[in-house]
Amino acid sequence: MDSLPLPLPGQSLLARFLTPEVFETLKDRETYFGVRLSHLIASGVKNPDSAIGVYAGDEESYTAFAPLLDPIIQAYHGLGPEDRHVTDLNPAHLEAENPDPEGRFVLSTRIRVARNLCCFPFGPVIGRRERRMAERAIVGALGTLEGELAGTYHPLPSLDEATRARLVKEHLLFKAGDRFLEAGGFNRDWPDARGVFMNAERTFLVWVNEEDQLRIISMEKGADLGRVFARLARALAVLEARLTFARSERLGYLTSCPTNLGTGMRASVHIRLVRLPEQEVQAIAEDHGLQVRGTHGEHTAAEGGVYDVSNKRRLGITEVEAVTQLAEGVSALIRAERGA
Ligand code: ARG
Repeated sequence: MDSLPLPLPGQSLLARFLTPEVFETLKDRETYFGVRLSHLIASGVKNPDSAIGVYAGDEESYTAFAPLLDPIIQAYHGLGPEDRHVTDLNPAHLEAENPDPEGRFVLSTRIRVARNLCCFPFGPVIGRRERRMAERAIVGALGTLEGELAGTYHPLPSLDEATRARLVKEHLLFKAGDRFLEAGGFNRDWPDARGVFMNAERTFLVWVNEEDQLRIISMEKGADLGRVFARLARALAVLEARLTFARSERLGYLTSCPTNLGTGMRASVHIRLVRLPEQEVQAIAEDHGLQVRGTHGEHTAAEGGVYDVSNKRRLGITEVEAVTQLAEGVSALIRAERGA
């Protein structure tokens, strides 16, 4: 893999890298859990407007289908075939300061990591029984959290529609799987064995069996990135002692979507920038390695000048670096907004 083929406008990474040769090499491969090329590419084939277009069906997909996934990983994260991912979840290593101590721009801060359980198939091929086993193991581990992190698990089927809709609106719960996940097979048996764990203050949450088996989330109002990160790290230390997460030495934590590999971490703020034109928000964010989403997450619009800004790279940088990158980019956005 010396040089990657150049992208065409609007082309997904799948379309760019699934060449006839790669297809020939991979077309008859199958992993231990029965993952085939057709599982990996289903979402991107059905949704030609995908940015990426592939999901891994299990840990082994990342080796079995490496001729397709490695170039995608390199193009998205900049991680070359020889690079190794490094983890640093130590909050003491974080030097970033609160970028908005007066609370004038940043509404809230949210850091999440994606995890899957070792030795279980991922969302695209997991069966009902395995999904329930995963839920049980995860909920058991969550039950050992104490103090601020202690909370309650709400299985999705137990929530009435009004409660479910309110939790989604408050950014506490995932929506029903989007068309990308739908085409990828993630929504089978919905809503069975899905749910959300929440602490009393709603500052620590875990989504179970959505795009990944765990989405572990620390969030609060304001811009105290250090506190949000420290809370997440505390929770992870407890959960890692109880659960074994899918992980590889080269790619770090393994996730269904290649964008989330490595740290699995998306560190984000909701920031209100009413004066700065949207293009400038985009440009400044990009300069700092950040991506911009709408107010209600991926594939939504920014409402009232409120943007969701987060690290784009999750692999090949440490968790501490991802949070630092966010702090620096947010400071730059605030400087520009003040000057606009
Ligand atoms: N599969 C979708 C695409 O390729 C989403 C990719 C990133 N988002 C995610 N939630 N994993 O555009």
